[in-house]
Parts: sequence; C-alpha cells; structure tokens
Amino acid sequence: MITREIGQTGISVNAIGLGCMGLSEFYGPATEKSEAIGLLHKAIDLGVNHFDTAEMYGMGANEALLGEAFAGKRDKVVIATKFGPLRDKSTGEFVGIDGSEANARRAVEESLSLLKTDYIDLYYMHRMDQSRPIEETVGAMAKLVEEGKIRAIGLSEASAETLKRASAVHPIAALQSEYSIFSRDIEAAQLPTLNEIGASLVAYSPLGRGMLTGRFTAENRPADFRSGDYQPRFADGAYEANLALVEEIKSIADGLKVEAAQIALRWVLNRGDNILTIPGTTKLANLQVNLGSGEIELSDAQMATLNALADKVQGARYNEQGMASIDA
Ligand code: ATR
Repeated sequence: MITREIGQTGISVNAIGLGCMGLSEFYGPATEKSEAIGLLHKAIDLGVNHFDTAEMYGMGANEALLGEAFAGKRDKVVIATKFGPLRDKSTGEFVGIDGSEANARRAVEESLSLLKTDYIDLYYMHRMDQSRPIEETVGAMAKLVEEGKIRAIGLSEASAETLKRASAVHPIAALQSEYSIFSRDIEAAQLPTLNEIGASLVAYSPLGRGMLTGRFTAENRPADFRSGDYQPRFADGAYEANLALVEEIKSIADGLKVEAAQIALRWVLNRGDNILTIPGTTKLANLQVNLGSGEIELSDAQMATLNALADKVQGARYNEQGMASIDA
C-alpha cells in the first residue's frame, strides 16, 4: 500500500482512495443501499481510508450513504466532500455555482448532517464561481476551518492562477482534477503550481470513466451519461478511435499479466509523489484490482509508450457546457 500525505495537512491516506459518485448516479442506476454499504465496509477492511463524495452526487444521497456506512467507523476514514454547484431538487438540473459565504455555510451544515459527523476532513470548492473572487470563497472556507467544521481546504478543477491566489488566503491542501493517461491538461500549469504551494493532486477519473480498463468494446458501450452528448470521448467516431488507443494499454497489461486498470492507476501514481487518486467503482472485484495497482512496476519504456497516448485522444473531457465550468 502506498501512503501519501494530503498537502501539508498531516493527514496521510492510502494513495488509492475510493470515488463514491458512481454508487449514487451518473454511471447507471444507484447501487442498492445494503450492497453499497457492504462495499464501503469492505473497502475499509482492504485498507481504503480516503472516500470522496460531494453535495451534488445524488443531491445528498451519496453523502447520506457514506454517513450511514461510516457510523461507528469515523476514526477509520478520511472524508472529502465538495460544495458549489447547485441543482434543482425536483429535476436534478444544474442551475449555477455559488461560492458565497452564505452558501458555504448552508452546504457545510447539510453535508455534516448527512455525513453524520461533526467535521469534514477535506472540503472542496467543486467548481469555481466565476462571479466572485476566489479570495472571498476561500476566506469563507477558512472560517469553517477555524470553527472546526472542516480540517483542510481543496479546490476542484481550478487554474494555476486560482490556486496561487487561494493559497495566499489559506493553505490549499489539494487540487482535485481529472488526470489520467488520456487527460493530461493540468501538467503544464497546475502540477508545477501544486509543487510550489505544497498541495496534492487528487486525480479523479483516473480510469477515463472506465474506458482505460478495457471493459468497453464496439458492442459493449456504456448506456448512461457517458452515452449522451455530455462525454465527447464516448461519442461515435471518437469512441472507436479512443478504444484503439486503449489496446496499447491492454498490451502492456497483458505483457505484465495484470489488468489494464492497474496500468492506468500506476501511471497516475508514478507521475508525482504528491499525487493521490480516487478511482470510482461499485464492485468489490474491481476495487480489489484497483488496490493491486500499487504493487506493479512500469519501466521507463512502458511509461513512455503510455505518455504518448494523450495527444492522440479524440474528444474533449466534457461537452461545451461542462468545459465552460472548468477554470483552465
Ligand atoms: P470516476 O472518477 O468518474 O468515477 P473512473 O474512476 O475513471 O471515473 O472510472 C469509473 C468507472 O470505471 C466506473 O464505471 C467503474 O465501473 P464499476 O462500478 O462497474 O466498477 C469502472 N471501473 C472501476 N474500476 C474498474 C476495474 N478495475 N475494471 C473495470 N472497470 C472498472
């Protein structure tokens, strides 16, 4: 098991955590509650101690699930959650991003209540509120630290400039961004900045939303939010081209007699000592595979082959609307 500190918080976790979003929505229907709780318990038994959720995942359902699962186990888990994006409770539609102090206070109280805890270990601004300065939002979050409601502050999908401005107000423990063999946009600006400010990267979608595991084929396409226009890499044409690139990951995996998912996760962890990752899964067998990625080694030549893939990927990470919410 690879243990890494989150920023300079003194909080050390298994570098392979668990992204919990898919247990509630986006990747097909929600996992049945007792099964989901069983998976979360098993994850703790297997050494996972960093669990990532957000106010918006299942509009509270995901946090409520973790709250129920972690009753009596709070000391065994580091809980990360996020606020900012607002959804219409009746339709689920996204209606804006609010980084005001009032919204931070409302959201943190709701998250604490759903998570059934009196502190959140790592609290992220989920997407930047372009209508107000980051200093205002981080200033509000700093008060939550002082009040003991949250232990550390993170930003998700923030630019290098935003990270620097934020860290002048309060230490930033982590940036959470998409980062994988296929998604390396943050290498130019954000990764060097994280080193400068002493923060970690928490890499989400390290498996390219499942694509890098080799589980998808021309016949077996995901029939969920990845199949609509929201995910250009899964759209007709791009999908086939990207699957051809996955063959290169599979061939390295086959040579090492390991899973493609393990290659994808190992690649992420090899890219920096301050990188943690939170692959999402709803299945115990996949969780076990993912945790095994800490044990494998990739040669320089294998890393070089994988490094060459991102430039050939077709399609943006999100559609135009999704990309507009990224602070690049
Ligand atoms: P996100 O961060 O958005 O959750 P991700 O971690 O890149 O995205 O990928 C999550 C997807 O990969 C999920 O669809 C998950 O499906 P299951 O719930 O069925 O596991 C899939 N996934 C995760 N680990 C996997 C593995 N080892 N093999 C195959 N698919 C896996």
